Amino acid sequence: METITIRGNMGASSILIGEHLENLHRYVPVSRTIIITDVNVHEIYRLNTMADDVITIGTGEKIKTLETVGDIYAQLVSLKADRSSFIVGIGGGIVCDIAGFVASTFLRGVRFGFVATTLLAQVDASVGGKNGVNYGGYKNMVGVFNQPEFVICDPDLLKSLPQRERLCGFAEIVKHAAIADADLFAYLEQNYKSAHALDSQVIEKLVVDSVTIKSSIVNRDETERGERRILNFGHTFGHAIEKATGVPHGEAVSRGMVIASALSVRRAHLTTAEDQRLKALLHNLKLPTRLESEPRRILEALGKDKKREDNCINFVLLHKIGNAIVDKISFEELKDAIDG
Ligand SMILES: NC(=O)c1ccc[n+]([C@@H]2O[C@H](COP(=O)([O-])OP(=O)(O)OC[C@H]3O[C@@H](n4cnc5c(N)ncnc54)[C@H](O)[C@@H]3O)[C@@H](O)[C@H]2O)c1
Ligand SMILES: [Zn+2]
Repeated sequence: METITIRGNMGASSILIGEHLENLHRYVPVSRTIIITDVNVHEIYRLNTMADDVITIGTGEKIKTLETVGDIYAQLVSLKADRSSFIVGIGGGIVCDIAGFVASTFLRGVRFGFVATTLLAQVDASVGGKNGVNYGGYKNMVGVFNQPEFVICDPDLLKSLPQRERLCGFAEIVKHAAIADADLFAYLEQNYKSAHALDSQVIEKLVVDSVTIKSSIVNRDETERGERRILNFGHTFGHAIEKATGVPHGEAVSRGMVIASALSVRRAHLTTAEDQRLKALLHNLKLPTRLESEPRRILEALGKDKKREDNCINFVLLHKIGNAIVDKISFEELKDAIDG
């Protein structure tokens, strides 16, 4: 097991990689533990024995709302939860985002931790202290920055994860390697087959490296004023593709990274050979690299991106594999890149 400690203004968080769900009791320091999980995870892992109470929510992005948060508050009240209660979110990014928000706001904040059960939650959602819900059709519109005391990343839990969900995690791992770690990128190129087979040693290495990369970027820029923006690599287009087509996040981000990489070549930051390496890696990991949906709809969705400034957009480009920069790009140039 490897522990990575993230120290930020919002407190410290220990990411426990290779730890197991069964050992959760070691990390919940107070008598009253309340688990928040979703119906799928609860069904598979039968969490009742692990805590005093279990609150179960539904699944899917549509339940990530203030209404769900309100339902959870109501259950906490009827369970007579108080300031000494400890909340553990056990699930993917949706459960963690909601549980973190609930714990940060209920009674002005109670202590909390996570067990991240999806690859995406282990490599991305559990790091960085962002918690929140969607509002009025906009993603993650309402929320807080606050660190969980611990995050357990148990590789065994990933075995029950559907293939499509695994891919979402792989897309974020490729993103981390592409923007910050050429060695990790090369490791992925050599070990993609074992990664796919969920070889626990390989998965642990990927989670450790991803968490290290994300946490060091976040530590330097906790509230997203500067450097943290590079974590949006592939995501400006990715979110637009997700909105326009409804494909899962990881698949949209994979396509978004392909477009961002092509733009990087246009601006002479990246060689064609490096661009090809990125595409080949995504392809080997069974992630999509082709834009299938109508470009105009994607551009329309892009126009609603909250990071838009004037007629330009702040865009993350690669400057060699393992290095990212943020550049202003006009809509005309983006349109050309999508069409081309
Ligand atoms: N806070 C952050 O920094 C951050 C970062 C990235 C993403 N996110 C958020 O994370 C969310 C997506 O998270 P996700 O991809 O983990 O999706 P998710 O939480 O919806 O989980 C995906 C599906 O897998 C199921 N599942 C979870 N664990 C399982 C397991 N071990 N075995 C079988 N099934 C399991 C869930 O029930 C769900 O149906 C989005 O809402 C996104 O905004 C947050
Ligand atoms: Zn993402």
